[in-house]
Amino acid sequence: MQENPSLSEAVRILESGNVVGIPTETVYGLAANALNEEAITKIFKIKNRPFFDPLIIHLKNAEEVEKYVSQFPAKARKLAASFWPGPLTLILPKNQNIPDMATSGLSYVGLRVPDHPLTLELLSRLDFPLAAPSANPFGYVSPTTAQHVNDQLGQEVKLILDGGPSRVGLESTIVMFENDTEPVILRLGGLGIEAIEKCIGPVGINIASHSKPHSPGQLDKHYATQTPLIIIGENYKPENENLKIGALTFKTALPLVHPQNQVVLSPDGSLEEAARNLFGAMRKLDSMDLNLILAEKFPETGLGRAINDRLFRASKK
Ligand code: TXA
Ligand code: MG
Repeated sequence: MQENPSLSEAVRILESGNVVGIPTETVYGLAANALNEEAITKIFKIKNRPFFDPLIIHLKNAEEVEKYVSQFPAKARKLAASFWPGPLTLILPKNQNIPDMATSGLSYVGLRVPDHPLTLELLSRLDFPLAAPSANPFGYVSPTTAQHVNDQLGQEVKLILDGGPSRVGLESTIVMFENDTEPVILRLGGLGIEAIEKCIGPVGINIASHSKPHSPGQLDKHYATQTPLIIIGENYKPENENLKIGALTFKTALPLVHPQNQVVLSPDGSLEEAARNLFGAMRKLDSMDLNLILAEKFPETGLGRAINDRLFRASKK
């Protein structure tokens, strides 16, 4: 791989306990030394994130897991072997090497190996893992380009590594393993449930929305645009003719909305392509001074489920 001139600067900034914007295949992250509480505190401050919301720790490879957990159940190992590097986070019982600040005092830690060459190269040059939430102000839509990060956090973040647009476009799927009990999905994401179940058999799902959730990823309003967004049924008719309306659709545009105010996420009907384009489209429509964004419901298969989850949370008041 050709040397990215920013890489050595990123190493220097992270080693000095500061934050860097990093590309991943899911969404861009706001990274700091996961073993340094002071560095982690900077992430929470920049994001305006509540301290009760734990961070995902990014590792250079699956062998690193043993350093940070007290148990690594067989099914979790199997998932790691099959899908890392990739859009999967495993929540496992932590050991004392992970600071409490990173997990918001929880006795479990979220770990993943991201699938992006630049960030894997960065991790290989560091002697610590990286804590990194999505690089957006708390509650807003996640960033899928370096420009998205720069637009909102450019003032506070000295360096954003540009690794191009995120290939998956949705955050990682989160699977929790409580002791030796069965795995439970806490967040739908870039790895479909079908693939997970093919690998380890049936998994539980607990993605319920709460205003005070047990796992903060379940916050009911999240991933939200400033502009109100609603999910519409087939026979939707606007109540107020004077509203400036935009739309987010899967394969075909809505006749009732001006073409310029619409984003069709995948004219070919690919859920992968729709997922990749979703957050960029939400940001674009949100910048257009609209009164309302209409969103179509997606098929409940593969990444369609995760897309619907994001739209649903964005639509919560
Ligand atoms: O794809 C991703 O996962 C991206 C990229 C940057 O890796 N990261 C990401 O981080 O989406 P964040 O912080 O925006 O979302 C992580 C979610 C949070 O909702 C948090 O509550 C949950 O993971 N989480 C992290 N550690 C947890 C733990 N120990 N127990 C329960 N939930 C946890
Ligand atoms: Mg986030």
